[in-house]
Amino acid sequence: MHNAPNIRSDRMIHPEHQRRAYLQAMGIDVWVPRDEEEPGAGAAISAAGLGWDELEVSVSACQQCELGASRTQTVFGVGDKAADWMIIGEAPGAEEDRRGEPFVGRAGKLLDEMLRAIGQSRDSVFIANILKCRPPNNRDPKPSEVASCNAWLERQIALVQPKIILAVGKIAAQNLLGSDATVASMRGSAHDLNGIPLVVTYHPAYLLRSPSQKRKSWADLCLATRLAAEHHA
Ligand code: URA
Repeated sequence: MHNAPNIRSDRMIHPEHQRRAYLQAMGIDVWVPRDEEEPGAGAAISAAGLGWDELEVSVSACQQCELGASRTQTVFGVGDKAADWMIIGEAPGAEEDRRGEPFVGRAGKLLDEMLRAIGQSRDSVFIANILKCRPPNNRDPKPSEVASCNAWLERQIALVQPKIILAVGKIAAQNLLGSDATVASMRGSAHDLNGIPLVVTYHPAYLLRSPSQKRKSWADLCLATRLAAEHHA
């Protein structure tokens, strides 16, 4: 099944905004015109061409949306930057916001077990989220926040060049595939994100609440394993 991805590749970076973000992240005060002070007021970002170090610095300084004001820190992503597998979740929760690492709470422990079952670990895959900042009270990401954050994830995917993307949960799957379908209807088949096979599965937090669905998530992991082995990009 081929769906139009929601991650757009036509976003333009404003060089001035990138320069400011970089300098701010390096601890250098930057003069910002008053009419551009509001988060999100700047030009749409693009991370095209950034290397890992510049990307991480730019993400850490990002103020493109209101979450920049409430986060403890950004949660960039973790793992092997040349991994075959990329796991994409929704957004950092409270524990992730505190520790700066994705999937470190209870759901994260279950994700670790799921990865172990297929011979992977959090060191052998790359784990990232749709949003790099925690939405307050764990509310769903707003479309404007997802749009502001798109460029960072898009660049991460381009740099990792994974053989398989595993979208965990509704928010990740819907935003990556540009769909409002349910996880139940998106899982169980192969999708495509700009030439990269993508499999949808249940979010580990949901599996903690509904353990009877774990059997289906195992089938999803087996499908993803097969697609990764077949993918020669
Ligand atoms: N849930 C997610 O989707 N991502 C995290 O990093 C933690 C919990």
